[in-house]
Amino acid sequence: MVCLGNICRSPLAEGILAEKAAKAGLAWFVDSAGTSDYHIGEPPHPLSQKVSLLNGIDISTQRCRQFVENDIIKFDKIYAMDGANYLDIKQLCGKNWQSDKVKLILEELHPGKNMEVPDPWYGGEDGFHQVFKLLDDACERIIQPYTGALK
Ligand code: 4NP
Repeated sequence: MVCLGNICRSPLAEGILAEKAAKAGLAWFVDSAGTSDYHIGEPPHPLSQKVSLLNGIDISTQRCRQFVENDIIKFDKIYAMDGANYLDIKQLCGKNWQSDKVKLILEELHPGKNMEVPDPWYGGEDGFHQVFKLLDDACERIIQPYTGALK
């Protein structure tokens, strides 16, 4: 799960998908990173932590890291929150770029629409609730083929 800062959106996405995988008994390794180095080592944004916890998911132990070239090799799938993240991932991957592994996360819900998860960084708590809902729906779609559950 990749966004710009690894402090608002991608920590939520990591927490949500990890929780769903654990509940489904899937031994998935879920991680997140930022394309920037702005917040390395910091915990998630207080409002990401708050909204996540209100939904029963504790993300307080996560720490921000920057996306590295080797992530494209290490992970089976990489989800970008927006188009700028996608292009930055491509640049950071250099010669190791594999387009089949990287996808905008909202393509899971609305294929072909190039929709983006809005950045809640400059807004209030409402934006974080909206982002949580979008990511919860997208992660549900990601996990469905592996659980057989219909929702
Ligand atoms: P995120 O949001 O990419 O969802 O973590 C942002 C976090 C920090 C900044 C911008 C967006 N920033 O400019 O520091």
